[in-house]
This record gives sequence, structure tokens and C-alpha cells, in this order.
Amino acid sequence: MQTLTVELEDRSYPINIGAGLLQQHSLLQAAVPARDILLVSNTTVAPLYAGAVKSALADRRIVEVILPDGEQHKSLATAGRVFDVLVANRFGRDALVLALGGGVIGDLAGFVAACYQRGVDFVQVPTTLLAQVDSSVGGKTAVNHPGGKNLIGAFYQPREVLTDTEVLGTLPPRELQAGLAEVIKYGMICDLAFFEWLERNIDALRRLDAPSLGYAIFRSCQIKAQIVGRDEREQGERALLNLGHTFAHAIEAATGYVEWLHGEAVGVGLLLAAGLSQRLGTLRTDEVARVESLLKRAGLRTEAPQIGAARAAEFMSIDKKVKSGRVRLVLLKGLGQAHITGEYADAALHDTLRERFGA
Ligand code: NAD
Ligand code: GLY
Repeated sequence: MQTLTVELEDRSYPINIGAGLLQQHSLLQAAVPARDILLVSNTTVAPLYAGAVKSALADRRIVEVILPDGEQHKSLATAGRVFDVLVANRFGRDALVLALGGGVIGDLAGFVAACYQRGVDFVQVPTTLLAQVDSSVGGKTAVNHPGGKNLIGAFYQPREVLTDTEVLGTLPPRELQAGLAEVIKYGMICDLAFFEWLERNIDALRRLDAPSLGYAIFRSCQIKAQIVGRDEREQGERALLNLGHTFAHAIEAATGYVEWLHGEAVGVGLLLAAGLSQRLGTLRTDEVARVESLLKRAGLRTEAPQIGAARAAEFMSIDKKVKSGRVRLVLLKGLGQAHITGEYADAALHDTLRERFGA
């Protein structure tokens, strides 16, 4: 098992990563000090892994809320159902919410934990690669609103993240690939050596080779933890974690959030960020080609949907990262050197959007 800490003064917490951690009862026992536990999961994940959690915590009072599977259930209405269960079972401020699932469950359960009685303890057991390398770390919790994704939420850190890499064995390959896009993102943001390691080990990751997975998840969490430790509330540097995301949000919004998984859209977004950086003269053609090749080898799509440059630009302009009417973008000064800027030639952005999304 490898452990790292998200350093946030009195809200610091450990992330434990390893194969088979759910079978080690002492780990969950230590992570979850409360007597009253609300276990939040969904109809896909609970039949696979809730049993392991319940036997590890057999001496506690566990109430389960098993939600329907899907992003459409990450809503205030579903959160309301979870609050109802907490109230009906007379859970107090000493209760703990345990999220067992991917990013949808983690974001929603974290939001509930942040709000219930103004905040109760929260533990994340992430079960998708995307949740293990991204959404379980850093304390962004939210539900969606019909007007947009993640519009209602809070920064609320868990007290621990317990990441068992063995659960990825049941994850559909497409979901694993979507998670790999976020892993590649970390290398592109600030760690060329990690990007190169991924170039050498991407096949092993797709085969679920345990040591390779353990290292990729550890290094991804370490990079995110360091950035969050310096900028928890995204006043500056944390926005680097959105590399590729402004383009990805345009793809997801224009295609109705059903056709593309978030990580798949991020993969194409990474390529657009690289392509625009090349047009602006800060990235070489061969570096863009390396990004494209790695994404393809990860099993990810690299062709953007033909939504049209104008529509893409419109969706990008309603992204959360707009400042004084100008979309700020995360771009590259080299592989492993991302920066946030509103200073770019509009013509270069327009040409990149036309090239990838069509006229
Ligand atoms: P998800 O939670 O929908 O999980 C994907 C699918 O995999 C679901 O069908 C789920 O039931 C299934 N699944 C989960 N674990 C499984 C397992 N071990 N075996 C078999 N099936 C399994 O999607 P996701 O990609 O994990 O998360 C996406 C969500 O995360 C989005 O709502 C996004 O907004 C959010 N997100 C949040 C942050 C953050 O910082 N909080 C960061 C990135 C994404
Ligand atoms: N997923 C981006 C962030 O946590 O800031």
C-alpha cells in the first residue's frame, strides 16, 4: 500500500492506494471512526463491493442508500432522497457518509456530507479510474442543475480516501480508457517524466497490470494533491487541472452529455489544447503528435465531433473559466509545462476550432 497526504492544515487527509485494500478490514475500520454510517452507492457498484465494506464494518450501524446508476441522478432531487434517509434514521452530527462508487456517487455523497447538519464526516472509496485519480481528491463536491453541470456544490474535503485498485477489474474498458485521459493530463500539466513513463507503460495500464496501475494512480494523486494543497479553492494554479476541459465541456454540452464520456471528451480536449499551443508557437509539431499517439494507444478517440467552430466557441464562452468576458485557457509551453492564459490570438483559436470541429 502507498499513502500520500493532501496537506490542508487541520483538514489534511490521507489517500491510501493499493490492490485488495477493501479486504483489509483494519484499514476501513481505521478510516471510519463513526458508529453511524450512511453508505451511498449505486445499483451497479453495490452488488459488487458493498458486501466487503459491510463486513469490514460489521460492528457499526450501517444504513445503505443505493441510487440508480447514471449522471442524470446527480441531482438535487437525488440528494434530497439521501437527506431524507439521514433524517429518517435520526443520524446526528457524529454520523459519517461513505461514498462507494465513481465520480457521480462521490460528488453527490460529498455534497450531502457537506450540507447535512452543516457538515458530517465523509470518506471516499472510489471505484472508477477517473474517481481514483481525480474526483475523490481535492474536495470538489456537487450536483447538477438543469442549467449546467456541477452548478450546486461545495468545497468539502473527505477525512480519508481508500483506493483499492483491484476494483478496476470489473470496470468496463471504455470507462478505464476515460480515466486514462485524466492520467495523461497530469503528465502534460507538469511532469514530462511521467508523460514519458506513460508512453512506455500505457499497454500495461490497459492490461490492468497492478504495479503499473498503482504507480499511475499514486503519481496522479500526488500531482493533484500538491496543486490542491497550494490552491484549494481554485484562485489560480488549481485551474491547471482543467487542461483540455474547456474544449471537453463544449463537446459534452453540444452532444447532450450522452454520447461522450467526460474522460473521452477530455482526451480530445487535450489534443485541442496541444494543437492551439502549436499554432501559437509554444509547442512543437512532434510534441502534438506524441499526445495524439498516446491518446490513441490509450484507446481514446482523437477525432472531435463535427459540432462546428461557432457552436464550440459559444459553449466555451459559457464555461466557468470566463473572466472579464474572455475565456481563459490552459495551454502548453512544452510537454509537462501548462499555463493559464487569456492572452492568445483569437484567430489561432478560431482556426483550431475550425480544423477540429468543422466550419
Ligand atoms: P460514474 O460515477 O458514472 O461511473 C461510471 C460507470 O462505471 C457507472 O456506470 C458506474 O456505475 C460504473 N462503475 C463504477 N465503478 C465500477 C466498478 N468498479 N466496476 C464496474 N462498474 C463500475 O463516472 P465517473 O467517470 O467515475 O465520474 C464522472 C463524474 O465525476 C461526473 O459527474 C463529473 O462531473 C465528476 N467529476 C468530479 C471531479 C471532482 O473533482 N469532484 C473531477 C472529475 C469528474
Ligand atoms: N477536476 C478538477 C479539480 O478538481 O480542480
